[in-house]
Amino acid sequence: MSGIKNQAIINKKVFNRRLFPLIELRKNIQLNPYPNLPLREKISLPFVLVFLGIWISGTLSIGYFFTRYTEQKEVQQVKDVGSLILRELQQEIKEMHVDAKLLVEGTTVQKALLLKNRTAILQELLPLRTNLSLDLIQVVDKNGNQLADLRSSTLYKTKIANQTAISQVINGVDFSSIIATEKPVSSSILIGTAPVKSNRGIIGGIIIGRAVSDKLLAETTRGISEDIIALHKGEIIASSFPKAYTYSDEKIQELYHSNFKKIKIGSRFYITKTITILGLDATELELVILSCITDLEATKQKFWILIGSLSLLGSLIAILVGYLVSNLIAGRIATVTHATEELASGDLKMRLPITYNDEVDKLAKGFNLMAEKLEDREQKIKFQVQQLEITLKQLSTTQSQLVQTEKMSSLGRMVAGIAHELNNPVSFIYGNIEYAFQYFYELLEVINVYEREYPEPTPLVNDILSDIDIEFVVEDLHKLLNSMKSGADRISNIVRSLRTFSRLDESGKKSVDIHENIESTLSILQHRFSDSKKIGNQTNSKIQLVKEYGNLPLVTCHPGKLNQVFLNIIENAIDALEISITKGEKTDSLQILIKTEVTDNNSIKIKIADNGCGMTEEVKSKIFDPFMTTKPVGSGTGLGLSISYSIVVDEHHGKLSCISAPGEGTELLIEIPIN
Ligand SMILES: Nc1ncnc2c1ncn2[C@@H]1O[C@H](COP(=O)(O)OP(=O)(O)OP(=O)(O)O)[C@@H](O)[C@H]1O
Ligand SMILES: [Mg+2]
Repeated sequence: MSGIKNQAIINKKVFNRRLFPLIELRKNIQLNPYPNLPLREKISLPFVLVFLGIWISGTLSIGYFFTRYTEQKEVQQVKDVGSLILRELQQEIKEMHVDAKLLVEGTTVQKALLLKNRTAILQELLPLRTNLSLDLIQVVDKNGNQLADLRSSTLYKTKIANQTAISQVINGVDFSSIIATEKPVSSSILIGTAPVKSNRGIIGGIIIGRAVSDKLLAETTRGISEDIIALHKGEIIASSFPKAYTYSDEKIQELYHSNFKKIKIGSRFYITKTITILGLDATELELVILSCITDLEATKQKFWILIGSLSLLGSLIAILVGYLVSNLIAGRIATVTHATEELASGDLKMRLPITYNDEVDKLAKGFNLMAEKLEDREQKIKFQVQQLEITLKQLSTTQSQLVQTEKMSSLGRMVAGIAHELNNPVSFIYGNIEYAFQYFYELLEVINVYEREYPEPTPLVNDILSDIDIEFVVEDLHKLLNSMKSGADRISNIVRSLRTFSRLDESGKKSVDIHENIESTLSILQHRFSDSKKIGNQTNSKIQLVKEYGNLPLVTCHPGKLNQVFLNIIENAIDALEISITKGEKTDSLQILIKTEVTDNNSIKIKIADNGCGMTEEVKSKIFDPFMTTKPVGSGTGLGLSISYSIVVDEHHGKLSCISAPGEGTELLIEIPIN
């Protein structure tokens, strides 16, 4: 037992040591930022918030990285396409130079140039222009004078900035580049040049060109999905798709010099990349590459919708799970709280079910242990209270018995003393009365004889006889002696009754005639049955005592104790009748009935009934309790019936019951087994 106790103390110490830092931490930091929230929210809120934080930041990060990745991919794609297009155009420009060189290598152009035969040059070059899809062929002599100028319709009447090209070509430089055109059509031309040489040296030069046109751009973007818009001084000079010409100035400004810019045109999204190719005389050919990213944007949008849905779904699941978990925990704690309240309100049978082995169930176990101990303690206290009650009852009974015994024994001693004192003088009277009669008759005989023998008395005798009426004296003396005898009889009866009554201290059971006991008790109470007397303003008539004695066998009992019972009950009956008179409820036909009979179950039954005040239900329920009295202080101790009950029920194994109602009188029924 002490081992278990020591283990419990050790466990408690270990627990406290473990918990101490936590308790200190909790004291130092106010870890409860929301003290007024219900426990359910307190549990679920951090869980839900942390989960939501992780979930949302996770999904957002994924979304962010996906977006970054697709955007980088878009940029990379447009960069790659830009490089490809740049390479292609540079190749195209180089090829112009090669084409120019090929054109002048034939002798025809040289001859025609030497002869300055314009017609021959045109005849030679016209078919080539068509074959090579050239927009421009210009032939100049060694002085830079233009001998031929073949143009396609696009460049018709356009002013071409070819001065630098001509001066370079007649100086023997062959190259390829870009030149600009001016009004009426602002454009750029990819050119290739070659000087025309003969044995005598440079005799002229040729410039071939291809205008940057829709067709050229369409050829360049063949096989790829990107489009190109060529800009010159902020104007569209060519485009791989015709719609570009309908763009507003603002849109064109947006495109100008733009790099990796996301632009929405119509319902489609594009990302831009600008390639600038420098030409002669600071000519800039600006090509804006438009890579359509509508599909990627749609994918991105779908992805974000998916991310949003997942976030929403995750949030809902987190809230739901949080709610369920907190509900589960808070619900179990609420059960413990409810059980504690029940226990506090007195239900010590309250126990909690143990299902899991977690903290709440440990709490429940602790609760059950506490409830068990409480119940145990209550049982012990109840038992002790019961014991105390019994002891108190015994004490009270003993006390009442002591009081009554003392009362009855002093009464008995007094009665016995009186009886004893009366007995001797009564015996004298009773014993001598017979002799008095005898002597009276003898004296009478003497007188009669004297009268007969001496018919003439002496004058002295005559004098005395004249003074005394001898006949009256004789007659009266006879009566006197008779009444003395009956008086002595009565006194002797009373003395016998007193002696019967005073047999209180006689120990052990005796077989007695119950009627004798009742009579002796009545003789003690004789004074209270006396003639009518005044009680308050009322004068009551004599209490009529009705005896209906049955034929009773001798009963084995404690006679003195039974006398006590009869005395108490008959006294109460007389008191009740007197109370009725005082209250003015009754003035005549006051009656006490004493009826005895033998019952079927080998007992005798004594009924003592009065037609007095009766009693209320409340009084009736307490009449056998010690010290219960309705009588004024000094008149009653409230012990009579409680003592009578213990004598009849405990000492004689009999029954004592009462039938009564207010104003209807009272019946006390005593049942005593015959043996
Ligand atoms: N015959 C009766 N009629 C009406 N009331 C009665 C009768 N007998 C008993 N009681 C009621 O029962 C109470 C208890 O009676 P009990 O004899 O025990 O005590 P008591 O008569 O008051 O006092 P004590 O007999 O000790 O002098 C009485 O005070 C009275 O109210
Ligand atoms: Mg009484």
